[in-house]
Amino acid sequence: MSNIVIIGGTSGIGRELGEYYAGHGHSVVVTGRDAERAEKIAAEIGGTVRGIAVDLADPPGIAGALAEVGPVDRLALVGIQRDRNSVKDYDVGGAVDLVTMKLVGYTTVVHALLDRLTPESSVLLFGGMAKDRPYPGSTNISIVNAGVLGMVRTLAAEVAPVRINAIHPGVVGDSPYWVGAAGLLEGVRAQTPSGRLVTMGEVVEASVMLLENRGLNKVNLTVDGGFA
Ligand SMILES: NC(=O)c1ccc[n+]([C@@H]2O[C@H](COP(=O)([O-])OP(=O)(O)OC[C@H]3O[C@@H](n4cnc5c(N)ncnc54)[C@H](OP(=O)(O)O)[C@@H]3O)[C@@H](O)[C@H]2O)c1
Repeated sequence: MSNIVIIGGTSGIGRELGEYYAGHGHSVVVTGRDAERAEKIAAEIGGTVRGIAVDLADPPGIAGALAEVGPVDRLALVGIQRDRNSVKDYDVGGAVDLVTMKLVGYTTVVHALLDRLTPESSVLLFGGMAKDRPYPGSTNISIVNAGVLGMVRTLAAEVAPVRINAIHPGVVGDSPYWVGAAGLLEGVRAQTPSGRLVTMGEVVEASVMLLENRGLNKVNLTVDGGFA
């Protein structure tokens, strides 16, 4: 049984990754911003799953929030706080929150858990294809997802032999975030060579491969049906 920590595991892809590992008999910690919600989601997932509160937008509080977490075999950094922003109409507050939670927050989690990783551990960072294909309102999402490329390079060098990989999904058609966005989804699907949008299940399968396959290190994997 491995110990899995999923930062941002109360919704969407993170939750489905938690369900995968719990379903395979592993011990899982899922986090969100609110302890009560995280505990509720953990109970819904079932198995050996614990829910705790970790706010990625508050890096000084992260080490304390993770104090009770034991050894970590697999760490997935999935959390996202959406920020619709453009340089013409720039919301500085939203930008600071997103850059802080995704770049400083992810890095702070790795820092805080360093003493609980082993040479066999692996870390998976979530970026996204907005890094290569900006869309209206994606200014900061494009910036932070591109930042994940730099995180992979530097963390892989600094925490070796711990493996560090990143996954960059395109639009994930069945994720809760896109509920009510049928028009946008259809536009992306029409331009996707595979003729369909990727699913959370497919992103989870690819995530598990990156987390588990010991030959994979410093990989930035695109999962977008060929849209890029
Ligand atoms: N869905 C897509 O189409 C898509 C496309 C490309 C890339 N991605 C990437 O894939 C990852 C998962 O996306 P998703 O759509 O599955 O996400 P989601 O359903 O929106 O879930 C976001 C998660 O992040 C947590 N979270 C939000 N703010 C946080 C904060 N300040 N500190 C800690 N946790 C926080 C949420 O927990 P609480 O709400 O409980 O706090 C939740 O567990 C993200 O990194 C996203 O950038 C997704």
